[in-house]
Amino acid sequence: MISTKKSGKFITLEGMDSAGKSTHIPTIISLLEARGIEVVSTREPGGTKLGESLRALLLHESMHPETETLLMFAARREHIASVIEPALARGAYVLSDRFTDATYAYQCGAKGVLITKVETLETWVQDSLQPDLTLLFDVPVEVSIKRLASAREPDKFEREGAVFFEKLRQAYLDRAEKDPKRFCIIDANQAIDEVKILVEKCISTI
Ligand code: TMP
Repeated sequence: MISTKKSGKFITLEGMDSAGKSTHIPTIISLLEARGIEVVSTREPGGTKLGESLRALLLHESMHPETETLLMFAARREHIASVIEPALARGAYVLSDRFTDATYAYQCGAKGVLITKVETLETWVQDSLQPDLTLLFDVPVEVSIKRLASAREPDKFEREGAVFFEKLRQAYLDRAEKDPKRFCIIDANQAIDEVKILVEKCISTI
């Protein structure tokens, strides 16, 4: 496991539901491809056939927060083995819409799973694999809730209330504060074109 030498780069996108991160994926892919880089765009939970099946369960079935954490890491193990590692090993850039910071934010920060338990799973499943760059799309909680209200049918995470989203946002900001070199925080509470400029700036650093 994880024996292949990594020569590509691993970029992740994070933020609360409705922060708008997924909108900017095509821009990021174009910026990197313009530099002659192969980009593998993927997501969590998901990214593999098994992972997408687990995603359907995770987003719609109610379960204990630790069960949720274990399933997230089960999907992640498959994702790393069959998508992320092979891509990085051949020098591609992997762009993942969410990764382990989401587990720390949602399952630990918002749902109370012990950080030590997630750290154990992280070491087991990832070994030394960590994102090289994480774009954190940050919006105030009221904005996220307002955007969600006008969105499609919400999944179970999107149906949570303000207290959940406050904890979630704080957990993400705490993660970013602890690792400022890896995180690029984007103020996503502005027009898409303004956010795009910030995204371009972050991507120019890698
Ligand atoms: P998405 O809608 O941004 O694709 O993310 C799916 C949902 O899964 C989102 O509400 C966040 C949640 N999630 C977790 O709770 N923990 C995790 O580790 C991951 C990757 C996602």
